[in-house]
Formats: sequence, C-alpha cells, structure tokens
Amino acid sequence: MIRVGIYGATGYTGFELIKLLQRHHQAQIVFATARSAAGKRLGDVFPTMIDLPLIDAEEANLAAVDVVFCCLPHGTTAPTVQRSLEAGVRVIDLSADFRLRDPADYQRWYGNTHPAPELLASAVYGLPELHREAIRHARLVANPGCYPTSVILALHPLVRAGLMADTNVIVDSKSGVSGAGRSLSLKTHFGETHETFSAYNIGRSHRHIAEMEQETGLQVIFSPHLLPVFKGILSTIYVRLPAGTDAALVREAYGVYRDEPFVRLLPGGRLPELRHAVGTNLCVLGIHPVDVDSGRYILVSVEDNLIKGASGQALQNMNVMFGLEETLGLMS
Ligand SMILES: NC(=O)c1ccc[n+]([C@@H]2O[C@H](COP(=O)([O-])OP(=O)(O)OC[C@H]3O[C@@H](n4cnc5c(N)ncnc54)[C@H](OP(=O)(O)O)[C@@H]3O)[C@@H](O)[C@H]2O)c1
Repeated sequence: MIRVGIYGATGYTGFELIKLLQRHHQAQIVFATARSAAGKRLGDVFPTMIDLPLIDAEEANLAAVDVVFCCLPHGTTAPTVQRSLEAGVRVIDLSADFRLRDPADYQRWYGNTHPAPELLASAVYGLPELHREAIRHARLVANPGCYPTSVILALHPLVRAGLMADTNVIVDSKSGVSGAGRSLSLKTHFGETHETFSAYNIGRSHRHIAEMEQETGLQVIFSPHLLPVFKGILSTIYVRLPAGTDAALVREAYGVYRDEPFVRLLPGGRLPELRHAVGTNLCVLGIHPVDVDSGRYILVSVEDNLIKGASGQALQNMNVMFGLEETLGLMS
C-alpha cells in the first residue's frame, strides 16, 4: 500500500485527486492539508461521501507517507518540496515551480528568482508518454501544466519523426474555467464567463509557452481562450510539414502512442471534442490535412484539464514511480 499525503486538498486539483484515489486499491491517504479550512473535515468543504480531516500543513507527519502531492499555487511549493525530500518522501508537484529545467527560464516567465534552483536538475517533467523511464526513478516529479499536456502530446510524434518543416507553431487553446483554480477572481466568476467567450494572454505572454517549447524544441505562438464550461481543454494546432507529406505518413508517426493507455488518435476524418475526454485521463487527438502539397496540417487535441491535465496525470506518475499498473485508479 502506497501511503499518500496531499497538500492543498481543498483546491480543484486536490479534490479531484482525492476522488481518484478513492478508486485506487493500492494507495491510502494518510493526510490532507488545507489553508483556510484547516481544522475542518473535507465533507464540510465539499458535500460528498468522502470524509477526511483537513490539517494544517505544519502538522503533516512526513514520516508516515511514501509520497506527497503538492496541489498548491505556483511560487508557494518550494519549502514543502524541500522538507518532503529531506524526509525521504517522493514528491509530485502539480504547480509550475519545478517544470522548467533552466532557472533563467523560470525568472523570465514567472518574474521571480527560482526559490530552490538546486532541485531543478533532479526534477523530472512528469509526462509519462515522453519521460516514463526517468519518472520511474525520480524523487521529484514536476507534473505538467494543463495546456502544455494537450499541446506537447499532439506535437511530440511529429517532432520525434523529424516531420516539422517549420519550427514555428501556432496554438489556439480553449479551457474551461476550472483551469484557473477555485479562488475567487473577477475574470472567472459566473457573471463574467457565462454565455460569452474570450481570449486572454495571447501571443507570447502565457507562461505555459515555456514548457511547450522546452519539451518540443519548437517556437510557439499561443492564444488561450476561456470557455463557459467547468472542465475541458481543446487545443487547435497549426503546423507545416515537408511539402507532399501524406496523411498515412503522418498517422504512422502517431504509432508511437500505440501502447499508450491514455492517448487515442481518432480515425482520419474525425475530430475530437471535449466530451470525448472530460471525466477521463485521456488525451484524444485528431489530424486534419489542410493541403498535402504544401504540407499544411491542423491537429486537434482534447483532455480534461483537472484529470490528464493535472490530478489524473499526477496519479499516473505515482503509479509509474512505484512500479504499479499505470492505469490503476484511472480507468473507470
Ligand atoms: N486547475 C487546473 O486545471 C490545473 C491544472 C494543472 C495544474 N494546476 C496547478 O495545480 C496547482 C493547484 O491548482 P488548483 O486549481 O487546485 O488551485 P486552487 O483550486 O486555487 O487550490 C489551491 C489550494 O492551495 C491552498 N492554498 C492557496 N494559497 C496557499 C498558500 N499560499 N499556501 C498554502 N496553501 C495555499 C488553497 O487553500 P485555500 O482554499 O485556503 O485558499 C487550496 O487548498 C496550481 O499550482 C495550478 O497552477 C492546476
């Protein structure tokens, strides 16, 4: 039995993780921390059948766990990560703090000096489809961002097969409002998102670009949008392949996912929609040839931002790290 601690259990990702862990027969939640709700029970915060005490992070007994999940805002996790690693506990951090290998990139995109640069070299970017072997042995896994998961999984086969004729890529993503977390903000409350649709941080400003570029080696122009739904991400990606590349060759490149339990490529002529992935740990891909002669293609990628884009992927990483069946807790 893997003994688990969760920091930030009252956030969207923390609660999603708790729900997933209920279905995992080889993991047991030993502690769950909260900030404002410390001292209450999970059932007081979310009216569900799952009941756990919520403790202050200072009271967490690291000697009693094998792994912790940090479901905390970026910029706040370093002390918890450091303390956990020193106690010999493996860490899966859902925040952005350990995703970028180069501390200068962190400074550039997050505007602060990295709080624990000495840990970056050993942190593994937790996308199992790309880094499974390294994740197996990692002490610190940096769970990918929600948008980057959908984008990197769509682009990786083309990069790997050497099919990107142009390394500049345009990515247009739409996310449900839970992507911004549970804290109140003007931008994401009901009155501001219901029955409307908006773009934000477009061009070269969204921080997730850094991960996309690190993991693909491409240059990305990124336009995120806020959808008036709770969960789900749909990314539309415009690429140029060598002139004359036919669809069969492109599909062959995606054969790299043949044995992946959580990546599906739809048959030619079909495109994924949010409902194909929401509620699951799947990333579902579609390929549309725009003009074979000039090598222009469009990729469409969908996922659940709280599952494959966050807590499901985190659980997948835990399964890999502890040598368990990778799909445990994630199939139903
Ligand atoms: N939402 C997504 O789709 C998504 C996807 C991928 C990755 N992530 C990343 O996962 C992390 C958690 O996201 P989330 O959406 O679950 O956020 P959230 O809903 O805002 O929850 C954050 C949790 O951390 C606690 N917290 C807030 N500020 C804190 C602080 N300064 N110190 C300690 N605890 C604090 C909150 O407690 P209170 O309730 O008391 O504030 C809450 O339990 C973030 O780093 C986010 O970027 C999110």
